[in-house]
Amino acid sequence: MMNRFAIVLAAGKGTRMKSTLYKVLHPVCGKPMVEHVVDQVSKVAINEMYTIVGHGAEDVQTYLGDRSQYCLQEEQLGTGHAVQQAKDFLSRKEGTTLVVCGDTPLLTSETLEALLQTHEAAGAAVTVLTTHEEDPTGYGRIVRDDQGHVSRIVEQKDATEDVLRICEVNTGTYCFDNKKLFEALEEIKNNNAQGEYYLPDCIEIMKANGDQVAAYATSNRFETIGVNDRVALSKASLTMKERILTHHMRQGVTVVDPQSTFIEADVEIGSDTVLEPGTTIRKGTIIGSSATIGPNTELVRCSIGNNTTVRQSVVYDSTVGNGVQIGPFAHVRPDSFIENDVKIGNFVEVKKSRLGARSKASHLSYIGDADIGEDVNYSCGAITVNYDGKNKARTIIEDGAFIGCNANLLAPVTIGKEAFVAAGSTITDDVPGKALTIARARQVNKENYAEKLNHKK
Ligand code: UD1
Ligand code: MG
Repeated sequence: MMNRFAIVLAAGKGTRMKSTLYKVLHPVCGKPMVEHVVDQVSKVAINEMYTIVGHGAEDVQTYLGDRSQYCLQEEQLGTGHAVQQAKDFLSRKEGTTLVVCGDTPLLTSETLEALLQTHEAAGAAVTVLTTHEEDPTGYGRIVRDDQGHVSRIVEQKDATEDVLRICEVNTGTYCFDNKKLFEALEEIKNNNAQGEYYLPDCIEIMKANGDQVAAYATSNRFETIGVNDRVALSKASLTMKERILTHHMRQGVTVVDPQSTFIEADVEIGSDTVLEPGTTIRKGTIIGSSATIGPNTELVRCSIGNNTTVRQSVVYDSTVGNGVQIGPFAHVRPDSFIENDVKIGNFVEVKKSRLGARSKASHLSYIGDADIGEDVNYSCGAITVNYDGKNKARTIIEDGAFIGCNANLLAPVTIGKEAFVAAGSTITDDVPGKALTIARARQVNKENYAEKLNHKK
């Protein structure tokens, strides 16, 4: 097969976003636009990929890491100038170069592959991916000659009334004969309304040089939206949201109310899992099969096991086993490990803690920086006192221990295996296994004293 190269244009300032965040890093369903693009480009066979970055380059590079190589475009002088930044790496190589914009997050690898194959089969100098838009405002228009061949692309700001009526638009995605691309770029000028070096001008130049210029029109215009402002960002997000939900439903997930359910990119969900209304599942979350999530639940970068239920709760950066019940109204914070068949009930907060299999914290308690064994009963109102105002310390509760209601466990402290902590105790010292510990003032009953108090009044 022919050498294939890819250039991802990602250096534009994104002025129309009116944002301090670099445009292509704006997320669509939890994932930066440019990452969506790079993921899809990576799925078609490419030998070398270059991402053109500008100010904010570090952030893009940090994000994409070694999935791409990078070229810095110090000044943003237009899309043609951006591609030229890859000249030193590519201009002497034979092959096909796919150019995509970092602001077209909905493009799929299937469409890119179809474009590449059409281009390679025709042996054209350039094949531009086009689509028909009901409202083409803002896009470059595809101008065709009498025989229907593409003759040039005209930007909105440079277009005459006649050209503005054309609904076939440039998606910003192209395949080029690599050598011819860099030759044509030498000839582009910036004598246009924006004073920029336009990549689409290569088409007219190639045509004038007698090279074959082709277009591949995709009927899926939902893939080709270019995100230049927040209105387009919301449209792209909506389309991506529907695409993601459809994918999971086809994999056997029940989504009770697709309108109120948000699943970000890169989420895995097993079959027969049910997502109740108002559920948000963030990027990087993995859910097993036959789980029930929601209503009104947020899962952020979690791993959730099979047959687990999470209702009206928030779980962050944690691992939850099989058959676990969480909620309603629980908060599981980062670095928690909730093992199989655990129960975490209403108004329970867990942070950086492990709860061993079958342990229960059913009501109103705080578990922070704790290692809790198996079959532990952590009763209503019990608290790990993990912070003394300066330092955090850990609490260890061994298998089978019973922590009574409203107990305070002053960390660092260890409650031994099968020990019993009496309700209301404030535990400052380790408790040996199987011991009963009572650490509270003894109750004093003063006969008839209430009457005396009333009398005083
Ligand atoms: C561009 C096309 C337009 C097409 C549309 C599709 C040009 C001149 N116009 O317009 O025909 O219909 O995309 O969405 O190409 N960039 C750089 N360096 C620069 C300028 C831009 O890297 O100096 C990058 C941007 O980060 C962006 C991409 O190139 O990812 C496209 O730039 P943008 O400003 O969004 O162009 P559009 O106006 O959308
Ligand atoms: Mg754009």
